[in-house]
Amino acid sequence: MLGLELANPVVVGSGLLTDQERNIRRLLHSGAGAVVTKTIHPNPPTGLDERIVRLPTGMINSTTYSKRSVDHWVGILRDLARDRLPVIASLHADSPAELAALAAQVETTGCRALELGISCLNEQDGLDDVPERVHAYTAATRAATRLPFSVKLASGEGVQDRAFAAARAGADAVTISDTLPAAAVHAETGDLRLGGVFGYSGPGIKPLVLASLWKLRRAGFPLPLLGSGGVQSGRDVHDYLRVGAVAAQVYTALHTDMSPTLVRIVAETAGSPRTDHDPEPVTQPATEADRSRQVRS
Ligand SMILES: Cc1cc2nc3c(=O)[nH]c(=O)nc-3n(C[C@H](O)[C@H](O)[C@H](O)COP(=O)(O)O)c2cc1C
Repeated sequence: MLGLELANPVVVGSGLLTDQERNIRRLLHSGAGAVVTKTIHPNPPTGLDERIVRLPTGMINSTTYSKRSVDHWVGILRDLARDRLPVIASLHADSPAELAALAAQVETTGCRALELGISCLNEQDGLDDVPERVHAYTAATRAATRLPFSVKLASGEGVQDRAFAAARAGADAVTISDTLPAAAVHAETGDLRLGGVFGYSGPGIKPLVLASLWKLRRAGFPLPLLGSGGVQSGRDVHDYLRVGAVAAQVYTALHTDMSPTLVRIVAETAGSPRTDHDPEPVTQPATEADRSRQVRS
């Protein structure tokens, strides 16, 4: 995958937990096939209130990019590369030209693979992503580096067109999905928690991401796909592989007992696709009672 030989298909996705060298090493020690860094940005927004809300079905977060400088990251990536660790640098910038320059700089560290974290919706006005934008960032990066890279997209409207745009512009793989727009209402005030619409992750998004991957495969999408969304168990990883992903990323689940959770998911992945942790979803005929209930609601 992306030129890396993975010991297993469980990749730790980009996020707060991968914003530190110590954690990256710990996650690899706990069995991750690879780790994606927090998104490195030459000019991360400042002054935003970056927070997390935990929901029963996942998490909403208003974080954006790493606050560490590019120079700081260059040092970290050099150390990790010296130890031949399977680390994927996640990168973004304010323009395609700036992203291209950042990718070229990161290539000098010996880092072997990149993910373009171009789809974060938590910047001030959200993100209405379109194929032209994806093409511009991908093509500029392709022209600047020989490193293999995946383009990370958000599932949802137009994701097929955006994925094909990344492929046409020279990406080596596509990762789906970044977090999806969501809101939670404060019970007492009636206001939106975090003050607006921000990125939703965790088990609630997994069926949506599976659908996106399955549809891309059915449409003959030519590149390897990485699944990202709601992985909590080996069974979830197998579900992603079964709809055609080459690897699955796990992130939100690791906010609870990071290392033991990862060790468990990697162990379950090595076992049978059917684990005791996850009861099989029940499929049943829609009865007359279900129909009349639907009509009434
Ligand atoms: C707190 C938090 C921070 C994140 N930061 C990043 C980031 O910097 N770059 C990125 O590409 N994705 C980021 N993500 C998205 C995750 O990498 C992942 O794609 C998404 O959460 C779906 O997977 P999950 O349900 O396993 O968490 C972040 C997610 C969370 C919850």
